[in-house]
Amino acid sequence: MSDGRVTHPLLVASRNADIGFAAGMELLRAGAPALDAAVAVVQRVEDNPKDHTVGYGGLPNLHGDVELDAMVMDGSTLKAGAVAALKGFRHPVVIARKVLETLPHVLLAGEGAAEFAREMGFEEESLLTDEARTIWKRRLEAEADGLPPGVARYYRHMARLARSLAKDPEAAAQEHGTDVTGTVIVIAQDHAGHLAVATSTSGWAWKYPGRVGDTPIPGAGGYADNRYGAAGCTGRGEMAMRAVTARSVVLYMKMGLPLWSAAREAVLDLYALEDEFASGVTLYAVDAHGNHVGMSNQEGRTYIFQTAHMTAPAERPCIFVGPDGRWHIPSS
Ligand code: GLY
Repeated sequence: MSDGRVTHPLLVASRNADIGFAAGMELLRAGAPALDAAVAVVQRVEDNPKDHTVGYGGLPNLHGDVELDAMVMDGSTLKAGAVAALKGFRHPVVIARKVLETLPHVLLAGEGAAEFAREMGFEEESLLTDEARTIWKRRLEAEADGLPPGVARYYRHMARLARSLAKDPEAAAQEHGTDVTGTVIVIAQDHAGHLAVATSTSGWAWKYPGRVGDTPIPGAGGYADNRYGAAGCTGRGEMAMRAVTARSVVLYMKMGLPLWSAAREAVLDLYALEDEFASGVTLYAVDAHGNHVGMSNQEGRTYIFQTAHMTAPAERPCIFVGPDGRWHIPSS
C-alpha cells in the first residue's frame, strides 16, 4: 500500500517475474513508458528455461507441443495485442506487442499467429527442452494407461486424457518441484503514472491442443486503464475467463470501490462459478495512485513489487479471501 508518497515508477508482478525486474526497473528509471518495462520483464521470464510454465522450457500439450499465450495492454490508450496457441517462438509477449502496433486486430491464434511472427522477422525455434520433455513423458506414461503419443488409439482418448492429466500451470510446476511457478503477469506504472500490463504462459500442461486460457484475453488475464488501475491473474484461466476477472477489478474501482474491496469482489465472483475443476486464481492489482495488492482464493500465495526507491523487488503475501467474503491478511 502507498502512504501518500508518489510510488511510481512501480512494478507489480507474479513471483516468477523477479528475474526480469532489474531490466524493467532500469527502463522505468530512464523514463521509458510502462509498456516497454512490462514487456522487458516478461521477455526475460520467457527466456528462463527453468520456468516450465512460460516461454522456452514450458511444459507441452498432449501432443508434446509447447503452445504459448501472451498479451499486452496499454492503459493510456486501452489498446491491446495478444497471441494464443502460438508454437515455435520464444517471445510471444513481443509478438503480442507487434500485433498491437501493426494490425487492426487484437488477438491472433495458432498458425495465423505463427505466420505473423514469421512475417515480422521473429526467429523460429524448438521451445521444448529436454527437462520439460522428461517431465511431460513421465506423467503421460504413468497415467495414460499404455497409450503412448503417436499410436492412433491415443488420439481417440485425448479428451479423457485432458480431463485427467491437464494441470494448471501453478499446480504443474509445484508438483514437479521447479523453482519458479506459474503464468507471469507484470503491471508497470511509469514516471507519468501511466499503466500497462503484460502476460505470458505456456498454459495448462498436458492440455488439449488448442486450449487457450485467460492470459491472452484482455479483461480476463489482464487489463489496464490509466484512469482507474490495472489488474492481472494467474492460476486457473478458465475461471478468470468466465468471470472476466482482470476487467472486473478495474470496473469495481471505476464504480467507486477502493482497491482492496474491488479485488475482493472479483475473488467473490470466482466463488460463484460452478466448476468441477475449480482451483486457485490469484489477482494482482494496482490503482491509479500506485497502491497495490495481491489477492487469491487460495492461501499461501505471494507477489512481488518494486518502486524506484527500492534496490530489489520485495515479496509480499497475497490476501486470502474465503468463500464467506472474509479476508485473511497474513503478517508480512
Ligand atoms: N492462467 C493461465 C492459464 O490458465 O493458462
